[in-house]
Amino acid sequence: MNHDLEKIPKHVAIIMDGNGRWAKKRMMPRVFGHRKGVETLKEIVIRANELGIKILTVYAFSTENWSRPEDEVNFLLNLPKDFFDSFLPQLNKNNVKVDYIGDANRLPEETQAIMQEGLAQTSKNTGMILNIALNYGSRQEITQAVQLIATKVAQGELMPNAIDEELIDAHLMTHFLGEYSAPDLMIRTSGELRLSNFLLWQLAYSEFYFTDILWPDFKPEQFDEAIIEYSKRKRRFGKV
Ligand code: FPP
Repeated sequence: MNHDLEKIPKHVAIIMDGNGRWAKKRMMPRVFGHRKGVETLKEIVIRANELGIKILTVYAFSTENWSRPEDEVNFLLNLPKDFFDSFLPQLNKNNVKVDYIGDANRLPEETQAIMQEGLAQTSKNTGMILNIALNYGSRQEITQAVQLIATKVAQGELMPNAIDEELIDAHLMTHFLGEYSAPDLMIRTSGELRLSNFLLWQLAYSEFYFTDILWPDFKPEQFDEAIIEYSKRKRRFGKV
């Protein structure tokens, strides 16, 4: 791929969808697809970092995923352990720093500890940020932001007319990403054309890329295709 760095998105968000269908096509249990999905994620992390992408946000577990069968939920919440156990040296070798968004408090303690450890072990890296959305839901994120802001108003710390987009941004979970908190490009695999409660505020002006490829089959070449497609788009942010 011809690297035109001007056209490389700074922040890419991915809805990694289709693991279950991928496994079913192979007469395998759904979790087999999730395991393969972790391998795909590793390849895409390496590629995104190579391309100079600054932030890769991936939807690993949504607030709605709790309603899946208990075994599958447990398996999904154990994936961060698999990921770090097998990939930490590579993350460090590639200078990738891990962070996450979502309601960590409701995760099993073991998952919380694994995430904290993954963060700590990569905290000195200065390359791409791999931002893992875990127990994340955008409506919940916005609700929490409204509560925080309302509390400040009630306590007299903030005037209602001081509430602007910047202030709302500052109360969202993506705030730590600073000027790059809004993704430039959102990719969803597996042919589903929905946002599924992912980064509703942050994706307001992002480019969307949908592909029928199931996540476990999504290769770095397909990721490149999405980036090339992005580079051809004209972003207007509502202007002419
Ligand atoms: C959607 O496929 C995928 C998920 C709910 C889980 C995605 C998670 C990973 C790929 C790995 C996460 C990695 C880390 C480091 C935590 P689906 O099960 O909805 O598939 P289907 O629509 O075909 O049923």
